[in-house]
Amino acid sequence: MKNLFVATGIVCGLVLLAAAPAGARVVEPGTIWRDTNGQIINAHGGGMLFHEGIYYWYGEFKEGLTYLPKVNKAWGGTRVIAGGVSCYSSTDLVTWKNEGLALPSNAQDPDHDLAAENVIERPKVIYNVRTKKFVMWFHQDSPNYAAARSGVAVSDTPAGPFKYLGSFRPNAGARPLNATEEDLKPSPRNLLARDLEGGQMARDMTVFVDDDGTAYQFYASESNQTMHVSQLSDDYLRPAGKYARIHIGKAWEAPAIFKHNGKYYMIGSGTTGWDPNPGRSAVADSIFGPWRELGNPCQGPGAELTFGCQSNYVLPVAGRPGRFIAMFDRWNKWNLQDSLYVWLPVEFDAEGKLLVSWQYRWTLPE
Ligand code: GAL
Repeated sequence: MKNLFVATGIVCGLVLLAAAPAGARVVEPGTIWRDTNGQIINAHGGGMLFHEGIYYWYGEFKEGLTYLPKVNKAWGGTRVIAGGVSCYSSTDLVTWKNEGLALPSNAQDPDHDLAAENVIERPKVIYNVRTKKFVMWFHQDSPNYAAARSGVAVSDTPAGPFKYLGSFRPNAGARPLNATEEDLKPSPRNLLARDLEGGQMARDMTVFVDDDGTAYQFYASESNQTMHVSQLSDDYLRPAGKYARIHIGKAWEAPAIFKHNGKYYMIGSGTTGWDPNPGRSAVADSIFGPWRELGNPCQGPGAELTFGCQSNYVLPVAGRPGRFIAMFDRWNKWNLQDSLYVWLPVEFDAEGKLLVSWQYRWTLPE
């Protein structure tokens, strides 16, 4: 019997070896991932930047107890103290060096936007070739997520430290490109009309740079019911005032955008907090829409709940046109600092729909 186990072990080992040739860059979704110091990578709700041959992974630094803050008599949703934005660097996408905090939170001043009691989520960094600045956008919020703002920071170097510029609700004083008079009619439930002057609510978000260098922010707005696509100013530091409403009333969040063969693609989720829900995807010929829904891209065991995950970013693999990696967080809502990362390749089926298939282990393209 013992021999049988040994023989089976050897065969399994050989099969794995055969599947992953020496030097292959192997990804094991949902397993503990350590940096070059042996520490667990702490970069949740993250985003990637590829700059001069190096990938930078930015994310929420989550450390400490998961708790349920009660603010103004309302429960705020479970979370950890905001630790700031972490940054890791890599040339191969599997070996990650900790670059420290690109934007620390502010432990001293409880009234500061970046106070540890507040929310710093879904950071994304883009590089502006004109100004030569690295620009970070993220979801900035109050402890009970009522502020719903976007924060912006800037740096001369990719790993920072970034200089915090401030936060705002985007597009104050601007009308959406596709809003009808009816859409703008004030009523107690019309959040778009209510916020026209002061700026639109913005929670889950991402930023995307198009081929012509124009950048866009996508944010969950109108109390997470409708998403906005908002063009940024040439320096990427603020909204340009040109924006459209998409997925109207569909409650999309966790947007991740990429472009392939001239079309814009989005992977996202529904709004169930840290709990997983069925993934969503969509395609558009113009970034301002219309966006056509393509359904849940996930395939295989656990696909109906996005493998227990929520989307955060889609990375185009450098030098490999048509290769994309979909990046997800597997949130552990009972202990958020233990949340894991799930990366899977994106494929396109014959009808142009997106497919993200579950794999326990896969190899990055050479
Ligand atoms: C999710 C969102 C996360 C975080 C969480 C808080 O809906 O995608 O980024 O904000 O809610 O409950």
